[in-house]
Amino acid sequence: MAIYLDFNATAPLLASARAAWLAAQDSAWGNPSSIHASGQQARHQLDQAKARISALLGCRPAELIVTSGGSEANALAIHAALAGIAAPAEILASAIEHSSVLRNAERAARVRRIGVDAEGRMLQDELVGALTTQTRLVCIQFANNEVGTLQDAAILSARVRAQAPHARILLDCCQGAGKKRIDLRSLDVDFASIAGHKFGAPKGVGLLYARTGVAVDALIAGGRQQQDRRSGSEDAAAVCALAAALAESLAHAEAEDGRQRALLEACWDGVHRVLPEARWLAAGAARLANTMSLAHPGVVNEHLVARLDLAGFEVSTGAACMAGRGEPSHVIAALGLERELARSVIRISIGPQTTAEELALFVAAYVREVRELVSVHPGPASTGRDR
Ligand SMILES: Cc1ncc(COP(=O)(O)O)c(C=O)c1O
Repeated sequence: MAIYLDFNATAPLLASARAAWLAAQDSAWGNPSSIHASGQQARHQLDQAKARISALLGCRPAELIVTSGGSEANALAIHAALAGIAAPAEILASAIEHSSVLRNAERAARVRRIGVDAEGRMLQDELVGALTTQTRLVCIQFANNEVGTLQDAAILSARVRAQAPHARILLDCCQGAGKKRIDLRSLDVDFASIAGHKFGAPKGVGLLYARTGVAVDALIAGGRQQQDRRSGSEDAAAVCALAAALAESLAHAEAEDGRQRALLEACWDGVHRVLPEARWLAAGAARLANTMSLAHPGVVNEHLVARLDLAGFEVSTGAACMAGRGEPSHVIAALGLERELARSVIRISIGPQTTAEELALFVAAYVREVRELVSVHPGPASTGRDR
């Protein structure tokens, strides 16, 4: 059995989510929009699940729109922020946003990417200086999927509100939700996106939080479900599973934060002791406890990931959706890493199921494979891969 170290790509289904999903398949299979008893039973369970989720996220049930996942939630927020605006509009987004933010934003308006420091923290003064009367939306990430940096979302949103009260704020919480407690009301944002599969819910269900009073023009038109903000029959069972996964994850979030942080620090000690040239990216920032992006000169990450896979370790070169492009991701590029090092970055992301034994085995394999790759291509002159 392979050792799975790619929890930021997706997490395995939690037992509580599976149980809630199976139970709701039997009891809440009706269409929540139907007026008969089967429909109303599904509606009731859907409403209960949304109430449970909203209590965990510090918002109201009516502020939650069920989507197919994080990408759709981001796309809907961007669409909603720009809907009906005829004047030239600009979106400000941190340079390390997920591509579902950047690409949907670029389709909708002119986008200005706001830089980050070497640890992935959004440059606050650059953000504030870029706000104009044309700024319609500011996109901030709660936690980065590749290096794990946590943004100071409350401070960033307060600075945007003070300078540009007309601008909407989208907080992408897809990597933070379930790992960190998030209180949406106190963060004072207009939109927040959630992806269930990142914390043990099934794939295919996510949420967009849209603050009360913020209009949401539907991207998907049809039967006017969800107050005409997102048409399509709601999947009550998936939302019940998401509620269960979020509750279970948050019940253990604090303990897991400490445990996973200690596990990755031990892992880093093991790597760094034998490979002094190794780098842990964004290690100095406030960051997710489960994420470690490692770089080492003289290594091509795709080769390393393939060799680790053959050795039984599932890791990634960064965002799963960027895999196979042969270029450093926009996140790694934004950190300002020199190109050769950027091409070597692999991401390890762990979860509640990860053990110290698994990471000890990983350290041995990483050290062995890096040493072999470096000895095959000694010195920067022989690599030839950056052209
Ligand atoms: C930060 C971030 N935002 C958005 C997404 C997109 O989520 P989904 O895969 O559910 O569409 C991801 C997934 O990798 C992510 O890490």
